[in-house]
Amino acid sequence: MIPVSEPLLDDRALAYVTEAVRSGWISSEGRFISEFERRWAEYCGVGHGIAVCNGTVALELAMAALALPPGSEVILPSFTIISCVAALLRTGCRPVLVDCDPATWCLDVGEVERKITSATRAIMPVHMYGHMADMAPLMEVARRRGLAVIEDAAEAHGAEYHGRRAGGIGTLGCFSFYANKIVTTGEGGMVVTDDAGLAERARSLRNLCFRRDQRFLHNELGYNFRITNLQAAIGLAQVERVEDHVSRKRRMAALYTERLCNVAGLKLPVERPGVKNVYWMYGVVLDDVVDVDAAGFARRLREQGVDTRPFFLGMHEQPVLRERGFFAGESYPVTERLSRRGLYLPSGLGLGEAEIEKVCGAVRQCLA
Ligand SMILES: Cc1ncc(COP(=O)(O)O)c(C=O)c1O
Repeated sequence: MIPVSEPLLDDRALAYVTEAVRSGWISSEGRFISEFERRWAEYCGVGHGIAVCNGTVALELAMAALALPPGSEVILPSFTIISCVAALLRTGCRPVLVDCDPATWCLDVGEVERKITSATRAIMPVHMYGHMADMAPLMEVARRRGLAVIEDAAEAHGAEYHGRRAGGIGTLGCFSFYANKIVTTGEGGMVVTDDAGLAERARSLRNLCFRRDQRFLHNELGYNFRITNLQAAIGLAQVERVEDHVSRKRRMAALYTERLCNVAGLKLPVERPGVKNVYWMYGVVLDDVVDVDAAGFARRLREQGVDTRPFFLGMHEQPVLRERGFFAGESYPVTERLSRRGLYLPSGLGLGEAEIEKVCGAVRQCLA
């Protein structure tokens, strides 16, 4: 079975972890955490990084740092992971959905302004599968309407929009470093920002809001969202080779596109002018003429030894959110179509040309 993803870990990661173990700094203090934060923030083009234990809590921490008034509305795409909505609900905000662009799979910026009300306080674009949302018009709307922007860049490490990196354009950017991500720490995440005040708040909230002067006196309820020095040791080794990882993803995508571009029945990922897509995962969308949906197609590929994953199911179709009274009667046709017709092919960092060839052969056969 060709796996959908596998991490690429090197001897340097092993050496750094060994150094962390030998030093005895295995919890949330130690040189690797500050170094990892500094290097990742610098890579994203911003001044501050706050490393946390996963990408889901990175989103929650970013929201908590903003301290929006209860009931604030935050606009985000329906086509995303539940982590985004969970972060909003857990910080007292209300999710307001928009559909997505059928080609980039990122939120439809044109729809954002139509959803703004007097209660809107922020926008949460999600850079989907490695391609960034259309940030220029989005930031312009945010500036004009005085809204914060929380970029979910979990899937877009190193992606660029007119020369600026994912996570470094909005008020805050959030990353996941789960094992399938371009840069991984096993489990991990980070909030990045250029705003020193927000960074300081996020740092305090990450660590239970201990006070510097009187440690056990608390003025606010914080979280324990800390990362360990062991994870950051892997993270630092990974950041040191992020360019290689991004190049591998782009090479993989070029090979897939070359072999699949003439196959009838498939929509392939795009790269809009001025955008650098990092193809975190190589997604394909089945045309309506194809006789099976994504789940059926995945079963056929599995029989051929090819593992895949389905696209996200829209937030407006989630029972846990519908039961709470959200999104009643709402429909987002592009999201609905993507969730039924989209899946991603093996996209691991170690994927070789022969494997890509085998996957493409299986895809052609399953479509025939
Ligand atoms: C877009 C997006 N946001 C957030 C997350 C959550 O990250 P984590 O799994 O590290 O909690 C993911 C995870 O894959 C993701 O794809």
